[in-house]
Amino acid sequence: MHTRVAIVGGGPAGLLLSHLLHREGIESVVLESRSREELESEIRAGVLEQGTADLLQETGLGERMGRDGAVHHGINLQFGGRRERIDLRELTGKSVTLYGQHEVVKDLVARRLEDGGHLLFGAEAGSLHDLDSERPRVRFSRGGEEGELSCDFVVGADSFRGISRLSIPQRARAEYERKYPFGWFGILVEAPPATEELIYALHERGFSLVSTRSPEIQRMYFQCDPNDAADNWPDDRIWSELHARLTTDDGWSVTEGRIIQKNVVGMRSFVVEPMQYGRLFLAGDAAHIVPPTGAKGMNLAVADVRVLSEALREFYGAGRTESLARYSETCLRRVWRAERFSWWMTSMLHRFDGADAFGHRLQLAELDYVTSSRSAAASLAENYVGLPVEVSPAAGTPV
Ligand code: DHB
Repeated sequence: MHTRVAIVGGGPAGLLLSHLLHREGIESVVLESRSREELESEIRAGVLEQGTADLLQETGLGERMGRDGAVHHGINLQFGGRRERIDLRELTGKSVTLYGQHEVVKDLVARRLEDGGHLLFGAEAGSLHDLDSERPRVRFSRGGEEGELSCDFVVGADSFRGISRLSIPQRARAEYERKYPFGWFGILVEAPPATEELIYALHERGFSLVSTRSPEIQRMYFQCDPNDAADNWPDDRIWSELHARLTTDDGWSVTEGRIIQKNVVGMRSFVVEPMQYGRLFLAGDAAHIVPPTGAKGMNLAVADVRVLSEALREFYGAGRTESLARYSETCLRRVWRAERFSWWMTSMLHRFDGADAFGHRLQLAELDYVTSSRSAAASLAENYVGLPVEVSPAAGTPV
């Protein structure tokens, strides 16, 4: 089997890349280890930056998002008995769209299949070969049979635990990592929204977040032990924890409902440099992980493949290799800014074991500053709605 671009991993990064390449007339094959059902039911984050939502609209993927997604013009920060709103639209002219990642995945799969795309479910990539040649190969197994895909380029979009990153020789990559001593306990609830816009809350008992998926389904999270298990949290315990962290003086609290899903989300920051080796290009979680606070994960994956599809377009259209050569540099600039933002939001909003009262007072002062200074609020807001995507290398004077 031969294709131009072999894409390992059919999450948002791999599927969207395949879609964008198809629009440029560039053929690709996507190898996804999971079944279509497993892939489409994985519950992840749900905040699309303005640029992400616009890209989906502009490339013909926006129909269901336009109908079922909700555009939010602000978010709330709750701390020290107060709730303050950050007006995203007024501060940046932009907004975010609440639409679950697995819904984006469903739309992408449907569209790729409709367009006759080559999407192989249940195809487990085993090894990558000849990455430093012009004819790399991917070996995979599917339904008990071994297959091989030869191509011009391999894109590793196979998540943090995939084989792609590890196929870069150790001497050719550097990894940067920070782990956090807590996780997020996430629930999906059948209930009407208790708030029009998201609430990020800091409380002595820890962080919590009230988000939404639809008028009928709400998404909530609270800081937990990273090794906690869903079984440790019967519904009653979850509700009393959420009420304790979120109830305000005027009696507002979250609306209870049937809990239909529980999971624990790990928290880490991770970046591999560079994001390229020979003819292998990494995209999304295969190259970088952010802690969930601020919901940058999928948006970063989308930005990566936007840069990559543009570089591949230049390669196939005009034989130009400059943008491909600078792919890693272009992406990493945005990646590190998102790493900074996610780390900062995480640090400001979580309870750190062993932190003293001074540390907690500093967090409150920071939240007070961010919600009362227009400049500080604008800084949060422009990062939250998404910094502009540079599809070509950073401007500035080379040194
Ligand atoms: C959601 C997830 C996030 O990480 C976040 O910052 C906001 C919302 C969500 O799943 O809805």
